Amino acid sequence: MPALTNRQVRLESRPIGEPKPEDFQVAEAPIPAPGDGQVLSRTIYLSLDPYMRGRMNEGRSYAASVDLGQVMVGATVSEVVESRYAGLANGDLVAGYDGWQAYAVAQGPSLRKLDPRAAPISTALGVLGMPGMTAYVGLLDIGRPKPEETVVVSAAAGAVGSAVGQIARIKGCRAVGIAGGRAKCDHVVKDLGFDAAVDYRAGDLGTALKQACPGGIDVYFDNVGGDVLKAALRHINRGARIPLCGIVSQYNATELPPGPNLAPLIVNRALVQGFIVSDHAERMPEFLRDCGEWVRTGRLKYREDVVDGLEGAPEALIGLLRGKNLGKLLVRVSPDPTR
Ligand SMILES: NC(=O)c1ccc[n+]([C@@H]2O[C@H](COP(=O)([O-])OP(=O)(O)OC[C@H]3O[C@@H](n4cnc5c(N)ncnc54)[C@H](OP(=O)(O)O)[C@@H]3O)[C@@H](O)[C@H]2O)c1
Repeated sequence: MPALTNRQVRLESRPIGEPKPEDFQVAEAPIPAPGDGQVLSRTIYLSLDPYMRGRMNEGRSYAASVDLGQVMVGATVSEVVESRYAGLANGDLVAGYDGWQAYAVAQGPSLRKLDPRAAPISTALGVLGMPGMTAYVGLLDIGRPKPEETVVVSAAAGAVGSAVGQIARIKGCRAVGIAGGRAKCDHVVKDLGFDAAVDYRAGDLGTALKQACPGGIDVYFDNVGGDVLKAALRHINRGARIPLCGIVSQYNATELPPGPNLAPLIVNRALVQGFIVSDHAERMPEFLRDCGEWVRTGRLKYREDVVDGLEGAPEALIGLLRGKNLGKLLVRVSPDPTR
């Protein structure tokens, strides 16, 4: 029996610089009733992702911002509690985009039914969800790695980066991660099997990268921009490919820092390409087939960093942008019936 009230986290004010807990409002609301073709679901897991910081700003980027007073957006894994859609039954587990709330009504066809026997349902938000797909299409379709090449990825201990390095290894490449702190660097080498890792917070990133990549960099998968991108560009090889995935080092910036020196791109005839994963939906079947198989066989490992309770979501998002998470950051909004 669902609780009588819904719990939501709404955007209270637009942050200047780093978000503060007061920029969010935790509120109660009535539980909505599903109409024809719709489904009421109980949120089990909420995904927290760096792009959410951009949605808190005014003005459109590649997607609309969240209005003040509106529930924060986000991907979710939920249990259907009342279905008025023929394709789903009560008790089904689904991936959707219900946002930061305990219950939500969604259009039936917008939900993807999950098979809890195939993989833990939380993976639909991480290694077998949007971040994993970002790693898969960004590396394979844009980075186009060839065996024996050196692939470097930043934010390497995070949701996207951890998959990039492991897929690079599966494709026969040398994988080097860049991450903040010794613990994250140890994790990507010892637990995830990267060939090397460089701590960008330890100082002199250029020298450390040179040592970790004696043959130079063939693919640099950029998740952070700024000084890390600048350092990586100095070590690229001729014909390098640079998938530009994100600029997390600037999401809280109030003024844009000066750009990197792009001369190495000309000298090395390098290709830089920005991409947004949602443009690559046609790759979903191959992504789920390949990454699903690699997860099942243990070739693609993943770490989840789970915060309990919807009320903890604001602090957890603030922490994500400071690098506090190790692996995919999730909020467990209510108990997972499969565990
Ligand atoms: N293009 C697309 O379609 C697409 C889709 C999904 C994600 N993305 C992007 O991919 C990137 C990674 O996303 P994710 O979900 O996997 O997040 P994540 O890596 O799990 O978490 C973010 C990480 O960014 C790093 N970071 C934060 N501030 C930094 C700074 N100032 N300098 C360098 N690193 C910093 C932190 O790791 P450290 O402690 O190692 O610094 C933090 O743990 C983000 O830029 C995101 O926007 C893009």
